[in-house]
Amino acid sequence: MSDWETIRLDYEDDVATLTVDRPDRLNALNVDTLEAIEEALDEAESEEVGALVLTGAGDDAFVAGADISYMQDLSVPEAQAYAELGHRVADRIERFPAPVVAAINGYAFGGGCELALACDLRVASEDAVVGQTEIDLGIIPGWGGTQRLPRLVGDEMARRLIFFGERIDAQDAREHGLVGEIVAGDELDDHVHELAADLAAKPTYALAAAKEALNQSHETGQEAGLRYERRLWSGLFGTHDQREGMEAFLEDRAPDFE
Ligand code: COA
Repeated sequence: MSDWETIRLDYEDDVATLTVDRPDRLNALNVDTLEAIEEALDEAESEEVGALVLTGAGDDAFVAGADISYMQDLSVPEAQAYAELGHRVADRIERFPAPVVAAINGYAFGGGCELALACDLRVASEDAVVGQTEIDLGIIPGWGGTQRLPRLVGDEMARRLIFFGERIDAQDAREHGLVGEIVAGDELDDHVHELAADLAAKPTYALAAAKEALNQSHETGQEAGLRYERRLWSGLFGTHDQREGMEAFLEDRAPDFE
């Protein structure tokens, strides 16, 4: 197991939990932290976990954004490299072969909100506050927010959130579709772990194929997307889980997936 200073990676019940661990900076993401997240994603993937949880250390923040003290004096080429790193990490989360669930335990601003947007599912504690707040720093979302936010909340609401840099509470985020579910703060970890463990118990290849096909709907037109879906769908026939799932249904028993 690797040893990082700014993140933790824990395993339990086929579920990995990646915790951004810079509570004195409200888990803001500097270059070291982003690189550590990349390494941790590689490690969790090679461990073949069934689901991954992404969260922040402490009671206050999921991730309060990109590190503003680092960004302050960046040149254009340096900013470009930082955006590329942020994009790489968000893409890596989006393409992680197993489902990734964001447990939003507090502030999720700017780059923190964008990491959550790259996850498959978002569960917020009732006192979480989220937003694409970059406008008030004189910049715009640079780690995927302009592309991923409108898909969840719609174009008008994305424009409102990004133009005004509004910080919205968990209830509003739920109402707008930015998070899927809200739970009490002291239940968040257990609830998300249970959700992730339930996902990890599902047929692995089918879940990975479902994720890939859904992701593809953002990349191509419908015709190409349907071709993609057909290929992934038919590729599942003959797998243990397909045979077992269908046999179990026909024999009226619970399936025993690989
Ligand atoms: N980058 C770097 N440092 C950050 C940070 C960020 N995104 N967010 C918070 N911090 C640091 C603060 O500078 C402070 O450091 P200090 O103790 O050396 O003064 C420490 O974390 C605690 O933050 P503080 O602002 O004192 O806490 P708070 O409870 O009063 O406010 C927030 C919390 C999240 C409302 C506030 O920190 C904030 O607005 N942060 C910036 C959010 C943002 O715009 N993010 C988008 C960046 S792309």
